[in-house]
Amino acid sequence: MEQVPWWQSAVVYQIYPRSFADADGDGVGDLQGIRSRLDYLQWLGVEVIWLSPVFRSPMADFGYDVSDFCDIDPIFGTLADMDELIADCHARGMRLMLDWVPNHTSDQHPWFHESRSNRTNPKADWYVWRDEPANNWLCSFTNGASAWDFDERRGQWYLHCFLPQQPDLNWDNPDVELAMHDTLRFWLDRGVDGFRMDVVHLIGKQLDQDDAPGAIKRGYPHVPFNDVPVTHERLRGIRKVLDSYNGDRASVGEVYLLDEAKMAAYYGDHDELHLSFNFSFLWATWDAAGLRAKISNTLGHLEPLGAWPTWVLSNHDVPRHRQRYGGSEHVARLAAVMLLTLRGTPFLFQGEELGLVDAVVPEAQRLDPGGRDGCRAPLPWTPDAAHGWPGTPWLPFAPEPDVRNVASMQRDPASILHLYRDLLGLRRGHAALQSGTLEMLETGDHVLAYRRCAGSQRIVVAINMGHEPLAVSALAGATLLISTAGATTPATTTGIIAAQEAVVALLA
Ligand code: GLC
Repeated sequence: MEQVPWWQSAVVYQIYPRSFADADGDGVGDLQGIRSRLDYLQWLGVEVIWLSPVFRSPMADFGYDVSDFCDIDPIFGTLADMDELIADCHARGMRLMLDWVPNHTSDQHPWFHESRSNRTNPKADWYVWRDEPANNWLCSFTNGASAWDFDERRGQWYLHCFLPQQPDLNWDNPDVELAMHDTLRFWLDRGVDGFRMDVVHLIGKQLDQDDAPGAIKRGYPHVPFNDVPVTHERLRGIRKVLDSYNGDRASVGEVYLLDEAKMAAYYGDHDELHLSFNFSFLWATWDAAGLRAKISNTLGHLEPLGAWPTWVLSNHDVPRHRQRYGGSEHVARLAAVMLLTLRGTPFLFQGEELGLVDAVVPEAQRLDPGGRDGCRAPLPWTPDAAHGWPGTPWLPFAPEPDVRNVASMQRDPASILHLYRDLLGLRRGHAALQSGTLEMLETGDHVLAYRRCAGSQRIVVAINMGHEPLAVSALAGATLLISTAGATTPATTTGIIAAQEAVVALLA
């Protein structure tokens, strides 16, 4: 098969470390827990793991408030544990990406302690300080509060696009940029393969620009609008750091702009991000015509740049997609076929392979200031009451953990978990799916269908989201590779797909 870079051919699996696997029994997942479950990820066919933040943190935003970029928080383990995890992944031919949070630190970071101590210290300008709020920006997660807070000690206002405990770094200061590059090198030197870069489109800001009133969306008021030229310069600086490691390390940016054209610009000319998330696709509703338009629009903006797409449906910030799409497991199966057969790098969020919906978290147990506890529920490993968690987990499980757990579903070849595993295997085995072109097929309002081609290999994917069987002429006579309806015999399709069925088929 054609040699493509690992970050293009692989499927990435997002681990939310607090909720993946707990080795020490304190109810919070940890690095040794992850090590103990690598067999599972390998069985599933995952090639790259992305860990949500594990750096030292007071956990006001569960790790996205970092107080030391170069150490592991004790709740997750030690640097030695991380070195072991990196080595284990590499020994299995897997890659490991860490979550790097460049826009802000914790207010407990020594840099901020120093910066807020007075107006003349060496780090006085490392954060964004003003005599009065410079604009009308609101911060995330606090119901419309200002993004500016007054610091009594220093007698000035500081900017925080997220919680007050997450002051924004001042990337206009070249010393900040260099210090942040050093944090990347610290991990690259230890062998980490790349980074997911948290809200990386915020590292450039135009502070004299007010946000439009009423433009607030989905808990991130200012975030979807920040799109400033200087950010691209800074991304080129970051790319140079990554590229200095044999050109084999990669980045995926959280560019939360909800606009494919704007998002595409963050790939630069192969000199900015390797990959960018595409949140416009994530928020699209479950509707064949709408999804077809989103996918075409995304490819239309990325292809001319030679930029490689990503596809993601769930993560630790949003309600799980099975839930968003109405709750049926059928739909979750169809979504799995779509996610894993599009042209680009798919990202899976832990637990979606079990068809999880969000946990129902009683008011008294809610912890996240952004209301995101439900999708962060612990992963159920076994059917027994403990579900593979040696201590009481920090959040309740998602519904049906007695059947919707790894062990039970591994034993059931008809489970959604096996569908994910089969799809991952199919991708690995077919260049057309891993790196081939994608051509949309016109199949009416209820079927999403496309052809993937590489060399002489041609694969058709058809997903019937409607409630009637439909004919897809491109499928007739093709060899069935996967059907969500279960049976792959007879081996040749008639070209009719049932309501709520998805098929992947090889053309002769
Ligand atoms: C990103 C993260 C989210 C975090 C926020 C602030 O959106 O995914 O979890 O709260 O940035 O770091």
